[in-house]
Amino acid sequence: MADIIDGRAIARQLDEVTTAEVTEIVAAGHQAPGLAVILVGNDPASEVYVRRKIEACERVGIRSIEHRLPDTTSQDSLLTLIARLNADPEIHGILCQVPLPEQIDTGRVLGSISPDKDVDGFHPVNVGRLSTGTGGIIPCTPLGVMKLIYSVVDDLTGKDVVVIGKSNIVGKPVANLLLEAEATVTVTHIHTHGLPDIVRKADVIVAAAGAPELVRGYWVKEGAVIIDVGITRMEGENGKTRLVGDVAFDEVQHASAVTPVPGGVGPMTIACLLSNTVKAARNAYGMNSGVSNAIAEDDKRTMFTGSGNRPN
Ligand code: GUN
Repeated sequence: MADIIDGRAIARQLDEVTTAEVTEIVAAGHQAPGLAVILVGNDPASEVYVRRKIEACERVGIRSIEHRLPDTTSQDSLLTLIARLNADPEIHGILCQVPLPEQIDTGRVLGSISPDKDVDGFHPVNVGRLSTGTGGIIPCTPLGVMKLIYSVVDDLTGKDVVVIGKSNIVGKPVANLLLEAEATVTVTHIHTHGLPDIVRKADVIVAAAGAPELVRGYWVKEGAVIIDVGITRMEGENGKTRLVGDVAFDEVQHASAVTPVPGGVGPMTIACLLSNTVKAARNAYGMNSGVSNAIAEDDKRTMFTGSGNRPN
């Protein structure tokens, strides 16, 4: 039987570290970290995500400031709000929930957030820093994936890792983080020829294609580690729906460890958002030793030594 990597438990451990850091910031005489959360329109899924993020802020002592705008909001007024938040010293992180309504150019808006406050890690400057290994804010889901891998793998040096999916928010940044960790990384996607044979070589599989149960048992080498980033709502029995990952979970019991869906990567994404917000606040208060490289070094320490990551 494969071990289950308990994302909820690991996220709770990370939240404890984040809570302690908030306490340290306040004890040093600073205001608690502040996260501005912008929601434009009323997409039901976005409403749920935003509510969860705001509740999570409360749990660790981060001040969340919600900005709800109607779906008729113009790009100019959104850019004006972001410019004001960029200049506000009481705001350390800015999160603009996507998707945005169609009259708004998403790239333009995300690119207007100050890279130092870009707790999603979506700004091209942070993407560039990540791809050159020069620090910056690491996107939340890829950071969570790395922490989950390090909860069961001591050292990725030379390990064969296959990433399935090439999205800007998961596949590409995860591949860059894995390269920084000295893994041998193969990035694949749903158009890759001979995908099962490529995946079968992997010591670690990161499945992030958004294709329910794409990865079958016979694709997986005995003893591999599987991180399932996919989450799709499917029709279940009795008219109920169920959440399904990119991996056929019941077929991969010969893996050494696997993340469940739900309860694997999902909880880590929010925990990493909180951690990124505290990091941005520490930077603003001069509590990290440098600017962007200090963030990278800090992440390397916590990610690569597994501080707070390893289940007991
Ligand atoms: N929409 C879905 N996931 C995310 C996320 O992680 N960040 C933002 N800003 N929007 C999202």
